[in-house]
Amino acid sequence: MSIKILGIETSCDDSSMAVLMDGKILSNISYSQKIHEKYGGVVPEWASRKHLEAIVPLYLETLKSSDNDISQIDAIAVTQGPGLLGSLMVGIGFAKGLSFASGKPLIQVNHLEAHVISLLIDTPRPAFPFICLTVSGGHTQLVIVKDFNKMELVGSTIDDAAGEAYDKTGKLLGLPYPAGPHMDKLAQQGNNIFPFPISALKDYNYSFSGIKTSVLYFLKDQLNKNPDFIKENLNNLCASIQYSINEMLMIKLKKLAQKTGIKNIGIAGGVSANSGLREKLIKEGNKNQWNIYYPQLQYCTDNAAMIATVAYYKFQKSEFASMDFEALARFPIPQSK
Ligand code: KG4
Ligand code: ZN
Repeated sequence: MSIKILGIETSCDDSSMAVLMDGKILSNISYSQKIHEKYGGVVPEWASRKHLEAIVPLYLETLKSSDNDISQIDAIAVTQGPGLLGSLMVGIGFAKGLSFASGKPLIQVNHLEAHVISLLIDTPRPAFPFICLTVSGGHTQLVIVKDFNKMELVGSTIDDAAGEAYDKTGKLLGLPYPAGPHMDKLAQQGNNIFPFPISALKDYNYSFSGIKTSVLYFLKDQLNKNPDFIKENLNNLCASIQYSINEMLMIKLKKLAQKTGIKNIGIAGGVSANSGLREKLIKEGNKNQWNIYYPQLQYCTDNAAMIATVAYYKFQKSEFASMDFEALARFPIPQSK
């Protein structure tokens, strides 16, 4: 008998639902909220309102495009956290209501665990153990993945996340939110000619606040001399900022791969869509005989396919949630050695 899971993701500013059958994605639909662009960042109140508007049409569209109705679904999986409380509550409230009405069991999923597991959505899948560098708008984590439920968090950011570093420095350049994808495109036409700092903390932790401050002061200084400095140098500025951020990410990843001897290396999360980061990963992979992995673009940014994929493994171990579980704004990645 096949197992079908409906996945629901509303932790930040993407409303997403997916249907997964026996580990295969039948449908994955995401609505990205545009309203935040004009504010230069996610406005939590707007995010939850937009999830509320989207959730029922999204549910109907996802089931229809997967050719299923709710009676054919075996479990309803939803992101419990971490994320914006109001946004999480929309997805969880919907999942609970649907579970109550349909009698289908609920499965709660950690969003960070799901980003790691996004590497297992498509083939070829990394064999265990593998290293995952999760780089998103809210998180930067280095994780050793020994099995589905055996993850060890080895390093994380002590301040901004990598995606935040892209978005905040991009904002200084006048790019729309989220700036990461814009920076990526412009960087492809530029060169790394401005030496922004590459900070390297001890161990496997990251810090991105230095580059943000450095870009801010550098631009202030240059704009005083030439008010058109950004306009005239946009591509090179993007290439230089991108180089520094990606270099910081790769230094720790290389260090961990060397220390552990693990050759299966993946990147996940929104920033794993970055073409410069992928290029670096391919280059290092060739040099060090790594097997490298990154998700398809639709599974890099927040998506419900990764939520349903985690739930598929939980379903097989009968790890169901009770009706009274709550949204968690802070929810560390579950660890077990
Ligand atoms: O995983 P995600 O959708 O949301 C969180 O869980 O945070 O990641 C969103 C982040 C944003 O900061 C966005 O700017 C960044 O991913 N991002 C990129 C690219 N595409 C998305 N950053 C750099 N290059 C990209 N191509
Ligand atoms: Zn995410």
